[in-house]
Amino acid sequence: MWDYTDKVKEHFLNPRNVGDIPDADAVGEVGSLACGDALKLFIKLDDAKERIINATFQTFGCGSAIASSSALTEMIKGKTLDEALAVTNQEIADYLGGLPEEKMHCSVMGQEALELAIVTYRGGPAPVHGHDHSHGEQEGEVVCKCFGLTDGFLRKVIEQNRLHTAEQVTHFTKAGGACGGCIPRIKDIIAQVLGEQPAVPPKKQEKLTNLRKMQLIQEVLENEVRPQLWADGGDLELVDIAGSIVQIAFRKACAGCHSSGHTAKFVEQKLRDMVSSDIVVEEVEG
Ligand code: FES
Repeated sequence: MWDYTDKVKEHFLNPRNVGDIPDADAVGEVGSLACGDALKLFIKLDDAKERIINATFQTFGCGSAIASSSALTEMIKGKTLDEALAVTNQEIADYLGGLPEEKMHCSVMGQEALELAIVTYRGGPAPVHGHDHSHGEQEGEVVCKCFGLTDGFLRKVIEQNRLHTAEQVTHFTKAGGACGGCIPRIKDIIAQVLGEQPAVPPKKQEKLTNLRKMQLIQEVLENEVRPQLWADGGDLELVDIAGSIVQIAFRKACAGCHSSGHTAKFVEQKLRDMVSSDIVVEEVEG
């Protein structure tokens, strides 16, 4: 289970400022249901159109997405637009007493929605963002096709949060968390940001016996994968292992979920990273 702070739990159980503002001055919408998280932020300004007098949100996502959105609306009420624009995703996480690194993408989504709302309200071009949104076109090269995330967006998050590994980038943006096909490109971007050369290819994996491989698969599913699914109300069951084919069945919120294909790819990538690069995950009815 995630180690959430009391403040995260409190904002999740009693979220502030839920709903829309019919006559909102600025709206920022990021994410998509297909990606598993979506946030729409509404902002109402004072008569001078400078200070935020109300902010509300609608979100679809996990508990930390709700808590981050709730915190964000509380943080920006009373701020000028310039002050609000300076709010970083780390400040949203700090307001909540911290977020597990695996959930930092929720704070990034909040900062994205805020920036998008303010910049488009001011008539500027939509900022470089990763997620699909309702204003403007995406800019830059789409690096992660599964989540529609661009190089400019990833570079910005890497720089602002001083990220050093592809796993951290996945935690902060979700990029690389489904099929994993974009991970080499993410590593290149990290290397560029850090001013280094692209990382050398990893050492060849040691050969595993069948027994050891099965043990490792079970350990990774129990210790690395299932706790992440539990946090979002889901679960999976290991059905069978035949050579490199791992059959899983989704349970609870994951069963019949529209994005279970992405989740299966995430499980496969985790097993490839931590057990063996030839693993193929199959979702079966269990
Ligand atoms: S392309 Fe990035 S996870 Fe699939």
